[in-house]
Amino acid sequence: MTPDIKFEVEIMSLGGQGDGIGSHDGQKVFVPHTVVGDRVRVQRSGKPGASGAGGETIRAKLLEVIEPGPGRQIPPCPYYGECGGCSLQHLGEQAEQDWKRQIVVDALARRGLEDVTVAPTRLIKRDSRRRTRWTAIRAGGRLLMGYQKKGTNEVVDIETCAVLDPKLNAIIADVRNLISTLKIHKKGLGIAATLTDTGIDLTIEAPGEPDMELRMRLSEFAQKHEIPRLSWGPKTPEVIIMAKEPVIAFGGTNVVAPATGFLQASAAAEAVLTELVLAHVGDAKKVADLYSGVGTFALALAAHGCQVSAYDGDERAIGALQAAVNKSAGRVNVHSEIRDLDRRPLQTKEFKKLDAVVLDPPRAGAQVTCEELSMSAVPKVAYVSCNPGTFARDARELVDGGYALTRVTPVGQFAWSPHVELVAEFERSV
Ligand SMILES: C[S@@+](CC[C@H](N)C(=O)[O-])C[C@H]1O[C@@H](n2cnc3c(N)ncnc32)[C@H](O)[C@@H]1O
Repeated sequence: MTPDIKFEVEIMSLGGQGDGIGSHDGQKVFVPHTVVGDRVRVQRSGKPGASGAGGETIRAKLLEVIEPGPGRQIPPCPYYGECGGCSLQHLGEQAEQDWKRQIVVDALARRGLEDVTVAPTRLIKRDSRRRTRWTAIRAGGRLLMGYQKKGTNEVVDIETCAVLDPKLNAIIADVRNLISTLKIHKKGLGIAATLTDTGIDLTIEAPGEPDMELRMRLSEFAQKHEIPRLSWGPKTPEVIIMAKEPVIAFGGTNVVAPATGFLQASAAAEAVLTELVLAHVGDAKKVADLYSGVGTFALALAAHGCQVSAYDGDERAIGALQAAVNKSAGRVNVHSEIRDLDRRPLQTKEFKKLDAVVLDPPRAGAQVTCEELSMSAVPKVAYVSCNPGTFARDARELVDGGYALTRVTPVGQFAWSPHVELVAEFERSV
């Protein structure tokens, strides 16, 4: 087939990255920006992909939607198609829900776990994202601040973002004004913003030291926007202004989260994940929270009446959790420990004391932990994952070790993106 050939194709399914998949002359065709049921006119683009079970795969560019599929919607954002942030805004809610559930079903099936109950996706409110990182660059004499274009280092200049909490959208213009006076390296400048319970925690990831005049301007900016903390620096940012503590409450306990540290993407998603975790843990008394971060689940579990041991490899996260527990003067029953769980997973004798384990590892999953856990007698495991592929691998390990995987609930906390969060419930009879 020559590269410029144009043809029509019907989209039968969506792939793991959200590209529509159809078939043409016996070849699988991947077409971005399409939905199931679309009849589209496309042009072949790029080189053939690897041979799959159905032969060579090809990529094609969407030229025209001849007949829209039932799941298609008008993308709500003016930067759709250009911005690499959310590439799937053409998917309506039901289509996104179904597709995200299917990603989980397929990942489990690839590990031979076909008979698992996968609940409908719990989709999270779109404009609720509480964490973001904008990039600023100068190009053609203009300051551009926003998100990267898909697959490039270019930046799409934005005035608003459809997935951000309105409070974050409200400061974009003023952040741009502030940044416009700064020296910006060719590679660009990152600006991280987290909406806490006490205001927006802002970090300008610029190198060097701000001079007195700049410190004054930063201070005025923080005052105007009631920014509780403004930090400066790329790796371990220096706090420039701390008007009050940037606090987030988990299970009623206030935590001062480290600048740019991990936090679930939105409070609404955190609430759904926590609800699912607590429901599965039930009346378990002694619980370990592995990969605890600043204590999102640990503190909710403690408020639920559990005695919690929390483990995480990040010193700053455990420091923040421990400081919150110390402030509670014995009210919050959480013991925390800095521990690299890949190098030093919990051991049989540590698991013996537990009624339940909650784990929420990074995208790489928790292979070593699950190898140990599969040999344990812990009755309940709640596994929170942001990567269905590594989750399914670890689930296989637990199931082979005698656990029953009773239910998986996909959570759509990253609207219009191929990322899927999930909560899985494992049980073993003892
Ligand atoms: C997806 S986050 C979850 C954090 C927390 N459960 C929450 O909901 O906020 C993953 C956590 O795993 C931690 N982590 C990554 N690799 C680790 C390792 N090898 N050992 C222990 N913790 C690790 C990170 O520091 C991070 O806090």
